[in-house]
Amino acid sequence: MRADLDPRPPFHAFVTGADRGLGLALCTGLLRLGWRVFAGQHLTAWHELAELRSAYPDRLHLIRLDVTSIESAQAAAQAVASLADHLDLLINNAGVNTPTKTRPIREAQDYDEMKRLYDVNALGSLRAVEALLPLMERGTLKRMCFVSSEAGSIGRAQRKAWYGYCMSKAALNMATRLLFNYLRPDGYTFRVYHPGWIKSYISGSKGTVGDMEPEEAAAPALNYFLEPLADEDQLVMRDWQGQLWEW
Ligand SMILES: NC(=O)c1ccc[n+]([C@@H]2O[C@H](COP(=O)([O-])OP(=O)(O)OC[C@H]3O[C@@H](n4cnc5c(N)ncnc54)[C@H](OP(=O)(O)O)[C@@H]3O)[C@@H](O)[C@H]2O)c1
Repeated sequence: MRADLDPRPPFHAFVTGADRGLGLALCTGLLRLGWRVFAGQHLTAWHELAELRSAYPDRLHLIRLDVTSIESAQAAAQAVASLADHLDLLINNAGVNTPTKTRPIREAQDYDEMKRLYDVNALGSLRAVEALLPLMERGTLKRMCFVSSEAGSIGRAQRKAWYGYCMSKAALNMATRLLFNYLRPDGYTFRVYHPGWIKSYISGSKGTVGDMEPEEAAAPALNYFLEPLADEDQLVMRDWQGQLWEW
């Protein structure tokens, strides 16, 4: 492993959508590894992130962030800059789904919900990258991670609905490709990731069905996000089992 890619302390990470679900578990995992973590807090009323903060008061910073607002993203970047001079790792994790997703095209589509999903899932990551890039420029690792989904794969799409979610994740994958084309020559490295089926809050309340609890899903995710790849010049989407997914 190259010394400049060794993700040991005092490396700094920003995780979007850190209130609960996978994002919270990623923050917990990074803190246990000794990282300093800037956690994008969307809901102030949620208790878990505050509890984590009391366990790691020196290395966990709660940063208000709504990824649908560039002003919010810029304010988050300013908040980080008041505490640290750089970021090494950005995990774009914030995401939403919708209860109206299952409607096939013979039913009325919920276009407002589709726009909301696109705004959070696709544009949200772009806003976070734009705002936090000046801090990433001063980081050592320069790693950008994008929590996408198998739902964004056009090549392996089997569903007959879920328009907003699938289309927003496919758009996120394209955004990642464009960022890769622009930033890879400057030393940035990228991860596009399908985390598996998680018992998270993405359906609005705590999921009772799924393959993994968020804590179980965070472990392979962090391995993939932190380990160097043999070839950083190929942008691919992988899942929690290491399988490649077609775009
Ligand atoms: N669950 C799965 O099976 C699954 C499968 C494939 C991919 N994924 C992806 O994994 C990622 C994490 O999702 P999850 O399953 O952990 O769901 P989750 O428990 O609902 O977590 C999503 C997080 O994103 C935050 N968020 C929502 N809107 C936001 C906004 N406008 N600005 C900033 N943060 C916002 C949520 O905050 P609040 O809850 O406070 O609003 C929450 O903390 C998402 O990108 C999702 O698409 C999940």
